[in-house]
Amino acid sequence: MGVVASAPAKIILLGEHFVVYGEPAIVLAIDKRAYAKVESRNDKRLYIRSANLNLAGYFENKTFKAEQGDSKEVKLKFEPVRLVAEKVLERYGETVGLNIEITSTVPVAAGLGSSAAVAAAVTAAAGALLNVKMTREDVFRITYEAEKIVHGTPSGIDPAISTFGGTLLFQMDTGFKPLEVSTEIPLIIGNTGVERSTRFQVEKVRDIREKYMRIMDHVFWAAREIVLRAVDALKENDLDALGELMNIDHALLCGLGVSDESLEWLINAARKAGALGAKLTGGGGGGCMIALARNARLQQVLEAIQRAGGVPFMAKKTDEGVKIECP
Ligand code: MEV
Repeated sequence: MGVVASAPAKIILLGEHFVVYGEPAIVLAIDKRAYAKVESRNDKRLYIRSANLNLAGYFENKTFKAEQGDSKEVKLKFEPVRLVAEKVLERYGETVGLNIEITSTVPVAAGLGSSAAVAAAVTAAAGALLNVKMTREDVFRITYEAEKIVHGTPSGIDPAISTFGGTLLFQMDTGFKPLEVSTEIPLIIGNTGVERSTRFQVEKVRDIREKYMRIMDHVFWAAREIVLRAVDALKENDLDALGELMNIDHALLCGLGVSDESLEWLINAARKAGALGAKLTGGGGGGCMIALARNARLQQVLEAIQRAGGVPFMAKKTDEGVKIECP
């Protein structure tokens, strides 16, 4: 008998990258989820399988053995899963073996927070299986540790949204605050299909920021003002302003060097098709873009993204954070 838990992916509406340096960001949980099924074993193995990635392997006595896929790649991908499982086992106070099966509907390395969603789901499922008392804050903290392996210096925005769900105003020093949103935010996500590493993108920003500190102070200040103005736009249901703010934010992100040709194609196509605003979301350098459009234009924007070579899908925001699915 196992326990299944799930956690949502996310899109950052505004503020990615700037958030790593303490600026605010707006993030939404979306209706794409990662699922983890955790069962106990009779031995001390930590056996992990990812159905989507076709990878499998196990950790035992500090060694790793791949059963499916290239050994180096499997170990690297499963390292965060091992870390969260071991953190839960530490709290349980005993070493027992676990089977962990991951199934996810979240595109990988696309800026949608797939690694945090997986880590949060595994943490919650393992905790429930072993009857370890964990608050959502505990799940967040453990998931955040795993994100450090994947991203180096993460802000914590991905683990926060995968754990708590909803629409959040996130800031590193003050944490997160649920945001008042008066209506649906009609968004389309376009996946460029170009996989990229968030760690690399974050390092790129660090380098340019250090090189042009005085200029970057103004850019970061502008990014903060955009987010604060967008909070009002969301409250007032002012989609025109929100779209414009997304466009300005994207221009700042371009200045940091985190957009790329694949994103620019999709963003331009969406704007030409009538989107109110379009920008990259997440780490950039490929991955996904988002477009905001009035309902009457959504289909047109979606088709334009597809014609430009992207894989578009409609995203619905969800209030559901990490949760136990069964038993
Ligand atoms: C990644 O989803 C968002 C970044 O801002 C990195 C982070 O906040 O950890 C690029």
